[in-house]
Amino acid sequence: MTQDKIRVALVFGGRSSEHAVSCSTAASVMAAIDRDRYEVIPVGIATDGHWVLMPDEPEPLRLTPGNRPSVDGERPGVVVPTSTTATDLTVLEPGEVPRTLGHVDVVFPLLHGPFGEDGTIQGMLDLADVRYVGSGVAASAMMMDKHLMKVLFASAGLPVGPYAVITDREWVRDSDAAMSKVAALGWPVFVKPARAGSSMGISKVRGPDELRGAIEAAREHDPKVVVEAAIVGREIECGVLEGHGTDAPRASELGEATVVKGHDFYDFDAKYLDADDVRLTCPAEVPAEVKATIQAMSVRAFEAAGCEGLARCDFFYTPDGAVFINEVNTLPGFTPTSMYPRMWAETGLPYAALIDELIALALERRVGLR
Ligand SMILES: Nc1ncnc2c1ncn2[C@@H]1O[C@H](COP(=O)(O)OP(=O)(O)O)[C@@H](O)[C@H]1O
Ligand SMILES: [Mg+2]
Repeated sequence: MTQDKIRVALVFGGRSSEHAVSCSTAASVMAAIDRDRYEVIPVGIATDGHWVLMPDEPEPLRLTPGNRPSVDGERPGVVVPTSTTATDLTVLEPGEVPRTLGHVDVVFPLLHGPFGEDGTIQGMLDLADVRYVGSGVAASAMMMDKHLMKVLFASAGLPVGPYAVITDREWVRDSDAAMSKVAALGWPVFVKPARAGSSMGISKVRGPDELRGAIEAAREHDPKVVVEAAIVGREIECGVLEGHGTDAPRASELGEATVVKGHDFYDFDAKYLDADDVRLTCPAEVPAEVKATIQAMSVRAFEAAGCEGLARCDFFYTPDGAVFINEVNTLPGFTPTSMYPRMWAETGLPYAALIDELIALALERRVGLR
């Protein structure tokens, strides 16, 4: 029987600041995945980048106000295949002969942020012809970078709000000149690390006095910084799933995230710790034509970037009826109460079935250039 099961390596943790969030996603997938169909191999990446074999136990990995979970780098090491000729996972323990864990049919990278959601792991798996859930190298890298993402959206005719980019070189050469690029945006602005997530390193800045500190805070996450004009509007999200074969991508029912109290915007604590301060509504109540517009824009963004598997597309819907695309996440929050799974559940695909669907899409597609 065991041989007939699909062998899935869940890879989680990672080197980004979203390590704990990734662990909590892994806990949810471990708890929900159909054990009759899949054999699960939990692979953790410690914050120092060390790959280890983790116990198949969801509970210690849950993110709660009292528990910030992490991968224990002292556990037995895991070597993942990086060549097409040796495709087994290998376990390394000090003083012991390396032992094989056997072949893996598909890797499910449950990693958020740099060194996971950004094409790096995807590139490594491509080198070994290993199938994996989600987008490939280019789409992952572009959608991780809030600057490149906007360039791509604009070229696809999607509405992007005003922004400026401050590169590391510009900042180090002349920070005053770099900050002057922001003046045309008006106030307030949002200052963001180009490649982060979960609102890490993001500040809302009300005037010039706060700008330098905000840029320095963003630079702790990424030397490349994006500054955006603040957009007043509702935050509406749409899930996209790749189609089978040559079918078009599918758009889900819409969701809405509303900060009801205690936070200036949808920040880290609001996302993960202060559940009472945020209302996630699904389906979002918007006029039918706005729903159709957002769904069409989501599919267009998915196709323009060449995304695969899944993506969550986030928008601002302003009081005067305008829609702006904010970002696309190629590995969105993925616990059962996260918006992406909720939107698909509302569309008729419950959490365990969504996991099945993503694994099926990954197994269907060919390796190599697609
Ligand atoms: N230009 C903007 N105007 C208004 N609010 C913004 C803007 N950019 C970001 N925000 C707020 O900050 C949150 C996080 O920003 P976002 O770009 O989505 O980063 P992350 O990738 O960390 O989720 C958004 O959900 C929103 O609440
Ligand atoms: Mg966001």
